[in-house]
Amino acid sequence: MAKTSAISGFYKLARETRIDEVKSFSGLTEAQAKILLAANPLLAATAEKTSENVISVHGLPFSVATNFIINGCESLVPMSIEEPSVVAAASNAAKLCRDTGGFSANADPPVMIGQIQIIGIKDAKAVAKKLNGAKDEILKFSEPFAANIAAYGGGLRGFSAKALDTKRGEMAVAEFHIDVRDSMGANTVNTILEGAAPKIAEISGGKVCLRIISNLAVLRLARATAIWKAEIIGADAVEGILDAWAFAEADIYRCATHNKGIMNGIDAVAVATGNDWRAVEAGAHAYAAISGRYSSLTRYRKLPNGDLQGEIELPMAVAIVGGATRSLPSAQVALSISGVKSAGELACMIASVGLAQNFAALKALSTEGIQRGHMELHAKNIAIAAGAEGAEIDAVATQMASEKSISTKRAGEILAAARKKK
Ligand code: MEV
Repeated sequence: MAKTSAISGFYKLARETRIDEVKSFSGLTEAQAKILLAANPLLAATAEKTSENVISVHGLPFSVATNFIINGCESLVPMSIEEPSVVAAASNAAKLCRDTGGFSANADPPVMIGQIQIIGIKDAKAVAKKLNGAKDEILKFSEPFAANIAAYGGGLRGFSAKALDTKRGEMAVAEFHIDVRDSMGANTVNTILEGAAPKIAEISGGKVCLRIISNLAVLRLARATAIWKAEIIGADAVEGILDAWAFAEADIYRCATHNKGIMNGIDAVAVATGNDWRAVEAGAHAYAAISGRYSSLTRYRKLPNGDLQGEIELPMAVAIVGGATRSLPSAQVALSISGVKSAGELACMIASVGLAQNFAALKALSTEGIQRGHMELHAKNIAIAAGAEGAEIDAVATQMASEKSISTKRAGEILAAARKKK
């Protein structure tokens, strides 16, 4: 039978059975399945080596979104997020575009921008011109600092300098374009910048100050698109989503929330795979404002046949090697579940999830609203907070939802009554 990510009733299965399903779908090893089963994401000893002043390990739910087809490939998407409904919403959006082939996505080569700030100069334009004129010399000088990444097929790809008029006077900025292959790139880029800095100081005659990667990775964009048929989602939903998107495009207060919904999905995959989600967030929001006006990361249009086409484009500096992608055992399992073989493929998956998440939010908001689905899951969290365990969680949550009274107090009362009855 052909492999499918549309695993029917996945959400109803026991956690152990879900792990079995994911194991056979993604070809996980026994050891990887055990990591999932143990739900012990990080040993305290490893945590202590990862950050400072460590006193414990913080946990998040680790889920998979089902139903995704990305570039023709059936995919399960690893997601780590505490917010109810996000994984269900992504899975549902993916389900609703399966019959049109799911998501088509692509990613630029993994080229990051690194910046060197030059201060103490009188004529920034002249300095930028001089640096641009010395491009070949600068790249040649900097080459040895890129040797590590060059061994993997990456390395220096370009150089340019620009002038800035700042609150502290004129400055020049030297920018290196660096192909970081399957890494996020911060270490590679920053190492090259620190190596290249003396040459920049020498040629510019200024004082070199900051040497740091830019998280606005405009050379490393990912894009995804999908078509939702009007006959499946309903003509009203098509109109509602278009209106909701137009609202976001016209109003920054709505747009912040609209893009936040996109990042719900994007961050969840970034977190699950051990990626620097703050870098992805920073890049996404800066890109949303790159025209000078903060706007939606997605676009929608109605096709001549009435179907809805959605698109997303944003910087996607994510890795499948280095940093926490390697040191977090669960991140390695997440990458195995995703089936991606390169940072570019992961970027495509993440962009697809971002679009799915936005479609789901706009569809729900413009039709029945999000509270019903949200509250059912929220009720489970409240039941857990009130001390419910195992089967008690669903029982308490269902009763609260049917009573339309969801609070820790009510959960406690229902729980106490049920336990007394037992
Ligand atoms: C909630 O986390 C995300 C939404 O607010 C997104 C949106 O409004 O588009 C539902």
